[in-house]
Amino acid sequence: MNPILLSSPLQGLTDFRFRNAFNKYFGGIDAFYAPSFRINGKREIKPSYERDILPENNTGLELIPQIITSNADEFLFAAEYVQKLGYKELNWNLGCPYPMVVKRGMGSGLIKDPTKIDSILNRVYAESGIIVSMKMRLGYETNEEIFQVLPVLEKYPIKNIAIHARIGKQLYKGEVDLDSFQKCVDTTGHTVYFNGDITSVPLFNDMAKRFPMIDHWMIGRGIIADPFLPSMIKNNTTKYPENRIELLSKFHEMLLQDYSQVLSGGHHIIMKMQQFWEYFATSFPNSRKEFKRIKRAKNIKAYEQAVRELLSKENNQ
Ligand SMILES: Cc1cc2nc3c(=O)[nH]c(=O)nc-3n(C[C@H](O)[C@H](O)[C@H](O)COP(=O)(O)O)c2cc1C
Repeated sequence: MNPILLSSPLQGLTDFRFRNAFNKYFGGIDAFYAPSFRINGKREIKPSYERDILPENNTGLELIPQIITSNADEFLFAAEYVQKLGYKELNWNLGCPYPMVVKRGMGSGLIKDPTKIDSILNRVYAESGIIVSMKMRLGYETNEEIFQVLPVLEKYPIKNIAIHARIGKQLYKGEVDLDSFQKCVDTTGHTVYFNGDITSVPLFNDMAKRFPMIDHWMIGRGIIADPFLPSMIKNNTTKYPENRIELLSKFHEMLLQDYSQVLSGGHHIIMKMQQFWEYFATSFPNSRKEFKRIKRAKNIKAYEQAVRELLSKENNQ
């Protein structure tokens, strides 16, 4: 089966600048999910989010906006807003594990409330023509919570349910619960997408073997750590292109230039790039010393020098 690969969003990282640079140099992703936005009771969309999903900032790639909310009015407001921009689908985030979100009964904190999920979907389907897809965890406290929700979802024509088979309390740590994922697939009549810890071609192949009924795979951290991963999965190869470092270098340059234009001051630019390097670094296990230099860089010149050293060392290996 030809896998369909989706970019799982990372707030603060996979914004439109990342998506465009990624698409230009690596490819292999069939659709990108935008990091989630919140409405917070006000009937307005933050300009930074608006910029992130404006079609003119996302040309040549398929984008699916995502909302995080526990309120039907907010959902409907967001649906109308994204429809006006030309989107047909809105993804609903029931996975976010952060305490501030969970405390407000949103993200993975909403999974334990199937009645509320039901009443929100009821209104959304009654009052809007938006296509709804969902992204969720197994629960917040336990991996049983989702099994109270799946029967409720059967009532609605949800496009798909992407499941990150962890509980919210785990954050991003510990194992992905593959047995519970299988149980979800067996329980629901909806199309299920797999999400969680796909970081290499062999690992992907293991998952594809274990879940032959799955053809949509969402990859989050793995595509930042190794942007070649989606195209390598599609070509079923573990071999990098010969010009790997050249492509990485151009990709990095494009990100750096784009962020330099919008962030004020070297400090902010370096901080943003260092966020990416926390992931990139896992692709360069032999360059720990150079990575430390990138992390310690206090100005753009030192940062660029450290990146150059790392890339040229990798190029010569
Ligand atoms: C820093 C960070 C930010 C994230 N932001 C979002 C988000 O906005 N929306 C969402 O659905 N998931 C978000 N996620 C979760 C990822 O999309 C993904 O579901 C999770 O990391 C598991 O998949 P992976 O192992 O392939 O990364 C975030 C994860 C991290 C680490």
